[in-house]
Amino acid sequence: MRVGDTRPLPPPDRKGRVPLETAIARRRSVREFADRPLSPEQIGQICWSAQGITDAKEGLRAAPSAGALYPVELYLVTKEGVDHYEPAGHRLRRHRSGDLRPPLRGAALDQEMIEEASACVAIAMVASRVSRRYGDRAETYCLFEVGHVAQNVLLQVEALGLAAVAVGAFDDRRAGRLLKLPRGQRVVYLIPVGFRRAG
Ligand SMILES: Cc1cc2nc3c(=O)[nH]c(=O)nc-3n(C[C@H](O)[C@H](O)[C@H](O)COP(=O)(O)O)c2cc1C
Repeated sequence: MRVGDTRPLPPPDRKGRVPLETAIARRRSVREFADRPLSPEQIGQICWSAQGITDAKEGLRAAPSAGALYPVELYLVTKEGVDHYEPAGHRLRRHRSGDLRPPLRGAALDQEMIEEASACVAIAMVASRVSRRYGDRAETYCLFEVGHVAQNVLLQVEALGLAAVAVGAFDDRRAGRLLKLPRGQRVVYLIPVGFRRAG
């Protein structure tokens, strides 16, 4: 896959088999991962839980958003490259190629799960999308929204039988430069996701 290429994701499962309460009760931070890639179905489900369109008529998404302005952008950092999730079309677009997990680990106090997990979900926000309407509240609203998105991801990961940890301890400027995020996008949360390493 070359930069700019897109790949469709499998349609999301909207029923699942794990009750919400079970996912909440079982969710735990996991920091040791096996070296195994996620399937397209797992990737699709995770992206959908974060930013998928759940009301096609109105274009509303899985996580709430102040004024439905949707300032959150979702990236997936894997061995192959960095992909950007496009909610309209439920697909990934290759943003960068190559494995950026090792340098991303370097930007995150050398926390090794960022390199070891199959994928690292990077949640970015664009405050200007919200400040036009909500002024000084924009930053706060964006951070709330990132939290909503992150929790959906963590619970979806649990329901899929996968493992994850929320990572806030990283240099966001360095991570943004590394991922070559468009101007105005700030990466605020990282969620390494993968298969729990036995033992
Ligand atoms: C805002 C935030 C930032 C966090 N940053 C990190 C981090 O950088 N590294 C890490 O290993 N865990 C991080 N965590 C995970 C917490 O350590 C973890 O949630 C806590 O120990 C409770 O354990 P539990 O998630 O298993 O319930 C973070 C959690 C939150 C909410």
